[in-house]
Amino acid sequence: MCVIVLSPLTNVPVAEQSAWLAGDPPRPRYQISLYSPRRTGYSLSPSPMSNPATISDCRSVLVIGATAGLGRALALAIHGLPSKPTVIAAGRRQERLDDLAKQGERIQTVKFDVNASRDALKSAVQDVYQKYPDLDAVLFVSGIQHLFDFKKPESINLDTLEEELNTNYTSIIRMATFFLPHFLKLSEQGRPSLMITVTSGLAIVPGPWVPNYCATKAALHSFTLSLHTQLKSTKVKVMEIFPPLVESELHDHQGTTPALSKLWMPLDEFTKEAMEGLQRGDVEIPVGKSAQQWEAFEKGKLEKAEGAQKLFSAPK
Ligand SMILES: NC(=O)c1ccc[n+]([C@@H]2O[C@H](COP(=O)([O-])OP(=O)(O)OC[C@H]3O[C@@H](n4cnc5c(N)ncnc54)[C@H](OP(=O)(O)O)[C@@H]3O)[C@@H](O)[C@H]2O)c1
Repeated sequence: MCVIVLSPLTNVPVAEQSAWLAGDPPRPRYQISLYSPRRTGYSLSPSPMSNPATISDCRSVLVIGATAGLGRALALAIHGLPSKPTVIAAGRRQERLDDLAKQGERIQTVKFDVNASRDALKSAVQDVYQKYPDLDAVLFVSGIQHLFDFKKPESINLDTLEEELNTNYTSIIRMATFFLPHFLKLSEQGRPSLMITVTSGLAIVPGPWVPNYCATKAALHSFTLSLHTQLKSTKVKVMEIFPPLVESELHDHQGTTPALSKLWMPLDEFTKEAMEGLQRGDVEIPVGKSAQQWEAFEKGKLEKAEGAQKLFSAPK
């Protein structure tokens, strides 16, 4: 016999509430439906894959930060998919965009600065989806990284620090806000779309030599979990790639590339693994060594966030 006790306050089973509050592990394979469709009671049901969309379903993919490193490699790999999507490569360096445009017949380019003013960014985003109404995926790959030593506070350049915060976090929240009317309209038409953030293994376990970078990526990771959960009832699917240290130009200006190049994951290996996750439609894609950090500290967190949302939304 199975007895389910309802809390008088929220109509959520007490066991479920207290397990969540006590931090017990969630049940990843099952969800408790708050009500059966006819509101006749509770039922335990296997958790369906609510949105099975993958990168291979997308017709037109915007990659922001496609002029170098991970973004360039992902843009070319997505262009090479058998589904033959159009790829719109975005970044600030025009000569790099011109070079990319020569790499594939379906590669379009747009000059794009994520640190443009709020109004300019909004117009840039609207220009993209008005020019490409089929746009059904965006990858937020743009990012920068700076070393900061807080033992030497006089050396901290707050302009540089705030630019890092804007590039890696605030601009992405702004762009998500500006892209969503388009993607939600597609959703109403029954069409899926993907919004994909690129965080880092350092979002999970910080590298104290780049403290602000890690905090921006942790913030973006947290936002991504919430955005995913809020949009779960729509056809807009929010996904996240957690790269490990990977071959790129990210560290060139720090002078650390020669040392890091002995440790980093080769770009082609990263791209292969990330593309496998994108093609499976995984919501969270920890790549290479990031998978160890994800396994140790993140596993189950998304389900917890979804559980928290359910408690918050439960009928009072
Ligand atoms: N490489 C790693 O070890 C590693 C590890 C974890 C996470 N990541 C993340 O992966 C992403 C890509 O990094 P990467 O390693 O490929 O670095 P990268 O080689 O330096 O490339 C950075 C890209 O971001 C773009 N970008 C920077 N500021 C921009 C702005 N204001 N507006 C538009 N685009 C801008 C650059 O384009 P323009 O300069 O042409 O504008 C470039 O395409 C970043 O989010 C990074 O944090 C990298």
